[in-house]
Amino acid sequence: MTTPSILPVLQGRYSPLRFNRDHQLTEVDIETLLEAARWAPSAGNSQPWAFHLRRRGDTGHGELVDHLAPSSRRWAPDASVLVVNLAHHEVDDSGTQYSEFADYDLGQAVAHMTLQAHAMGLACRQFRAFDLDGLHDALHVAPGWRILTMTAIGTADTGDPPTRNRRSIADLRTAGFALPA
Ligand SMILES: Cc1cc2nc3c(=O)[nH]c(=O)nc-3n(C[C@H](O)[C@H](O)[C@H](O)COP(=O)(O)O)c2cc1C
Repeated sequence: MTTPSILPVLQGRYSPLRFNRDHQLTEVDIETLLEAARWAPSAGNSQPWAFHLRRRGDTGHGELVDHLAPSSRRWAPDASVLVVNLAHHEVDDSGTQYSEFADYDLGQAVAHMTLQAHAMGLACRQFRAFDLDGLHDALHVAPGWRILTMTAIGTADTGDPPTRNRRSIADLRTAGFALPA
């Protein structure tokens, strides 16, 4: 069977491990990325997401860099912007759930932003390699909100895109179900 073809933006996207440290994102670029995230679907249209962005060279960019893990510190500071991705879990700190699907929905909004970036000739690497608790305190995250991930966005400073591996369609259709005895 031939491999089904998918949208070029999906096929061509990859997460680089090197960014061009000379590239700058404009304010219009940033607004466009946020606009893409804004239109993501969410449970009950709850839109339980927030994005805290600091461009390379901005005051405060170094504060994000200071909280990177050694692994991400090798490449993330070169990205044009670092984005902190937050989900709204609870109403203040009342213990009342804001959205059961906050993490799920944040992931979709980040995916929207990632694909919009790729369509604009940019590249993104989402990551978790940072000091979560330290960053939470440094950014004074509001009660009920949680940082989940960060995204480095810029232009990829790589030669050929890397080989990307994925599980098969057959596996997607069968995994996760216990076979009847
Ligand atoms: C939630 C999440 C967390 C990730 N954390 C890291 C990370 O800490 N460090 C890293 O180098 N890449 C991280 N990645 C990037 C993945 O390794 C990458 O997306 C995956 O290998 C697939 O490669 P591709 O995006 O090029 O298709 C993360 C991606 C996601 C979605």
